[in-house]
Amino acid sequence: MTARKIITTQVAILGAGPAGLMLSHLLFRAGIDSTVIEVRTEEAIAGTVRAGILEHGTVRLLVDSGVSDRVLTQGDRHDGIELRFDGESHRIDFKELVGESVWLYPQTEVFKDLAARRRADGGDVRYGVTDTSVVDVENRPRVRFTEADGVEYELAADFVVGADGSRSQCRSYIPERHRRRYFHAYPYAWFGILAQAPRSADELIYANSDRGFALISQRTHDVQRMYFQCGPAENPADWDDDRIWAEFRSRVNGNGFELVEGPVIDKMVLPFRSSVHTPMRHGKLFLAGDAAHTVPPTGAKGLNLAIHDVTVLFEAFDLYYGQRSTAGLDTYSTAALDRVWKAQHFSYWMTAMLHTPPAADDFFRARQLGELRSVVGSRHGQAYLAEAYTGWPTPTAGG
Ligand code: DHB
Repeated sequence: MTARKIITTQVAILGAGPAGLMLSHLLFRAGIDSTVIEVRTEEAIAGTVRAGILEHGTVRLLVDSGVSDRVLTQGDRHDGIELRFDGESHRIDFKELVGESVWLYPQTEVFKDLAARRRADGGDVRYGVTDTSVVDVENRPRVRFTEADGVEYELAADFVVGADGSRSQCRSYIPERHRRRYFHAYPYAWFGILAQAPRSADELIYANSDRGFALISQRTHDVQRMYFQCGPAENPADWDDDRIWAEFRSRVNGNGFELVEGPVIDKMVLPFRSSVHTPMRHGKLFLAGDAAHTVPPTGAKGLNLAIHDVTVLFEAFDLYYGQRSTAGLDTYSTAALDRVWKAQHFSYWMTAMLHTPPAADDFFRARQLGELRSVVGSRHGQAYLAEAYTGWPTPTAGG
């Protein structure tokens, strides 16, 4: 048996998605050492289609921390969205209501920017590893893994961060008696497509209809991203282009608005669920992003929450290594969960308000339209949506 190679770092991070890479990047800027390991290949992560909306706080962090300003040059600033119901569109003007915007910039581009920045800064990021495990998360954590070339490693670290996604392995190292899982299932999924077509509108359209929800989003000048509500067991192979466009038309077109159609170049069914795993810290193990929580996609909070988690966690590590204070580490779980539950509520609320349950009766539909009118018909209703969508202000130290 060959001995494992022993290596050391200050913070071991499992998962090189946006959460893991952003944390590694922020730590590097503060002079704190980290090693990131990831079971997927870099190409596989870069090739996965994910959501596309960034809160202003996420954008500011990408730019101000020096990851990249590509979000500003190649992303699109959106100052509002349209809610469409009962055949009419209603604009929610974020800029006017709360003075903020969001940016349309796909998560895969965020990943590419972070991966490139970590590489340029000489970061230790190892993709395609196998046989990962963590031992002794309470006292002297060590991460074991095998690199693609077959060499086995033991990585000793002060702390371990599980940023290893919704099927997190790290989560399982918190003893069952110490953890709790909150879960909500929805009777919905999204049928997502990429279409070769010019854009149909300048902003996103969230459409409620008798036939169900549809979301018209964008990617580039000639590729668009769109979704319609479907059942969780829907099979993309059963849907050809004609059937897909007929479904979009029936939910979105009308009163002078017509979608621009084109060849469907990708189609997939996205599952829906809400989950929260608490606490987000046990001993020297910290969870961040999807490893600790998932939200339904309505409102695009997933990536933004993950970035918020690692911002809070970075500040905690910075305080620990700068002043040997564990205050931030001790409050991490509570501080991160505060925003997680706000986002859970917002995602649930947007989902419930905009989707049509399979067995919706007349009362449900009429009440739902009343709810939508109460939001768009009130400055306060609109402002709640605008503040949540663009991202709640982050409390700063002392504030
Ligand atoms: C996108 C996804 C979302 O879940 C959303 O609420 C808005 C946009 C997107 O992929 O573009």
